[in-house]
Amino acid sequence: MKPDWKSKEGVAAGRGATVQEFFANIGEDKFEIDVAPWGEGHLKVNGRQVAHINDAKDRRGAFRELKKIADRFLDQEAPRDDSKASLGIIPTVKAKLLEGKKGLIVGIANENSIAWGCAKAFRAFGAELAVTYLNDKAKKYVEPLARALEAPIVMPLDVNASGQMEAVFDRIAKQWGKLDFALHSIAFSPKDALQGRVVDVSREGFLTTMDVSCWTFIRMAHLAEPLMRKGGTLFTMTYYGSQMVVKNYNIMGVAKAALESAVRYMAAELGPKGIRVHAISPGPLATRAASGIPEFDALLDKAKAKAPTRSLVSIDDVGVATAFLAHDAARLITGETLYIDGGYHIID
Ligand SMILES: NC(=O)c1ccc[n+]([C@@H]2O[C@H](COP(=O)([O-])OP(=O)(O)OC[C@H]3O[C@@H](n4cnc5c(N)ncnc54)[C@H](O)[C@@H]3O)[C@@H](O)[C@H]2O)c1
Repeated sequence: MKPDWKSKEGVAAGRGATVQEFFANIGEDKFEIDVAPWGEGHLKVNGRQVAHINDAKDRRGAFRELKKIADRFLDQEAPRDDSKASLGIIPTVKAKLLEGKKGLIVGIANENSIAWGCAKAFRAFGAELAVTYLNDKAKKYVEPLARALEAPIVMPLDVNASGQMEAVFDRIAKQWGKLDFALHSIAFSPKDALQGRVVDVSREGFLTTMDVSCWTFIRMAHLAEPLMRKGGTLFTMTYYGSQMVVKNYNIMGVAKAALESAVRYMAAELGPKGIRVHAISPGPLATRAASGIPEFDALLDKAKAKAPTRSLVSIDDVGVATAFLAHDAARLITGETLYIDGGYHIID
């Protein structure tokens, strides 16, 4: 369904008067776009910002781009029933290939998160999941999804809050006594650091980016190791901008390169214990994290045009491929950076 955009009356005076606002209702969801003459604009869904652009030519260009993002957002939404997030949106899979396995999912922000696509697949294959949410603000979006997953453990985890990650692993140790897999699907870079040149990045911006986007995976592996006495699988999310210079990916590309390297070292160190470590490298997906990257729409268009499959990936594509690697059948695959990008990375 395509939104029927209407313009909003009564916009505030002053600088705000130059900003135009539009809205559309799709079912129970409220979509809002605001656009400024200098080419900046925002897309909000139910009051939550899902996209921000600041590089369109003008107001009209910004509106056009944000409309496209809204269409894509709607296309990506899983079919939902009235309760918004119920088991109905978790695919029914007869082969419970991960039955008996217990996994930790870090990085669900909302229904568009890559971590949610992975969690749905893990659950569909029968795994039991522990789910974390960033903070109280995020809780209301994550909780219904955790309920749909029937997650017995749902806990806050802000990796900047000392002791929270340890608390999650303590609870898993007490309740499950083991862990079979863990998914790290988080990244963060302050706006100045992310949107500036690598050559200009401040020490603080660099350290924050590396800390949240790379070191926290190393720490997760450290805490997971004692719980993976019979082996296990650790996953993190990376992106092609680690290997090639991708416009606007900047310092995050540096962090992802370090992350992929950490995956290889940890795979070598933990391999003798039967613990496998993988980086998953999806093609671009319109998530909240992606909305911090300028001209993201152009990245999506390029991905679609260049990938051998001529299609964009979905969070469900990423989920099933990741779930496969958690299965014992994949026990001799480790240290991999697995591209789920329609083959984009093989094309010059
Ligand atoms: N969207 C893409 O195009 C794309 C492509 C390749 C890789 N990735 C990677 O996938 C991962 C997930 O991102 P996404 O695209 O699903 O976006 P998302 O916004 O849905 O997920 C990002 C997650 O990071 C979490 N996070 C940020 N700071 C945190 C902190 N201090 N403590 C705990 N959690 C924190 C957020 O709460 C959120 O759940 C990231 O590592 C991202 O770099 C994304």
